[in-house]
Amino acid sequence: MSARRPGLNPRLDPRLDIGIAFDLKRELEARPELARGPDDRFEEYDSDATVDAVAAALSELGHHPRRMGGGRKFVEEALARPPELVFNFAEGHGTRSREAHVPAVCEMLGIPFTHSDPLTLAATLDKSVAKTIVAAAGLAVPRGAVVRGARELAALDLGWPRIAKPLFEGSSMGVRRSSRVEDAAALAREVERLSNDYGEPVLVEEFLEGTEVTVGILGNGPRARVVAAMEVAPKVDDQKRFVYSLEVKRDWENQVEYHVPPRLDAGTLRAVETLALSAYRALECRDVARIDVRLDRAGRPCFIEANPLPGLNPRTGDLCVLAGRVGISFVEIVRAIVEAAIERHNLGA
Ligand SMILES: Nc1ncnc2c1ncn2[C@@H]1O[C@H](COP(=O)(O)OP(=O)(O)OP(=O)(O)O)[C@@H](O)[C@H]1O
Ligand SMILES: [Mg+2]
Repeated sequence: MSARRPGLNPRLDPRLDIGIAFDLKRELEARPELARGPDDRFEEYDSDATVDAVAAALSELGHHPRRMGGGRKFVEEALARPPELVFNFAEGHGTRSREAHVPAVCEMLGIPFTHSDPLTLAATLDKSVAKTIVAAAGLAVPRGAVVRGARELAALDLGWPRIAKPLFEGSSMGVRRSSRVEDAAALAREVERLSNDYGEPVLVEEFLEGTEVTVGILGNGPRARVVAAMEVAPKVDDQKRFVYSLEVKRDWENQVEYHVPPRLDAGTLRAVETLALSAYRALECRDVARIDVRLDRAGRPCFIEANPLPGLNPRTGDLCVLAGRVGISFVEIVRAIVEAAIERHNLGA
């Protein structure tokens, strides 16, 4: 890239000028035009602590990190001073394509970037689109349908219990304990609540009652690998009714226990990991992702959703927690993401 110091051969110099793309929760909270809405509307945005941790890890690895932020600020900085690599975990704002905004700008300007490309980020944020792609690859997904209001519920042909969730949110936005429903009246209430609060379609699915596992994956192509699979188990709730909901995630220390490896027999664990890796490949995720899987009543693993921008808070991010349980530090996660991107873009030594 033009920003590289002259005279240095990029293939011999692994120290990169890395721009960090992110969206800070506190900055979105301060925007007056976003003052109204459900109290979890900024749930997926990042804290200074996470950005600082990523910057510190990049420095420790010998790179030269700088904070680019997100939105317009990112675009202006990318035009004025394009970095050699963007470390991207900007969530974007406003639409189901929001996670694709920063990578689309990078693609347009020819700036290499970590994590998945715009198409994968948009496709995975819409949970129904993601399931369609994963199911087309022959992988198991829960039966479900997208509705645009409670009046469409009568036509659904799905078993009970069910769960209702916003079609294109993350970090359990809109997902509460009450999201698991056993009858038509409760489902109609949930669909009304979600439609009113989020102003977007609602995904209604058959509720999978078995063990829940989230699988961390790093790398690309044949070298994509499972870092660890982590069972997310309720401490308080009954397993069959457990929803890894907003209430639970906000109080995770009291509400859940994590098991690495999951308490599954070897064959089932293998099936969970194979499903997650196959979904990662079907969705063409790059560098890193976390895939959520849950067993159905018969013990068969099903794909729930993919997180190609997994939370990177070193203390609370599920990817960081599961990696930590198998002895992989935060710096090692950042290193693996950057190295995977360097290799893809042919930037390294
Ligand atoms: N079909 C389902 N059957 C059973 N439980 C489900 C189903 N879909 C979602 N859940 C529960 O709801 C939780 C949140 O759903 P999901 O992972 O789709 O949302 P999210 O907000 O995108 O999550 P994340 O915080 O991982 O981004 C899951 O972890 C799981 O506990
Ligand atoms: Mg999830």
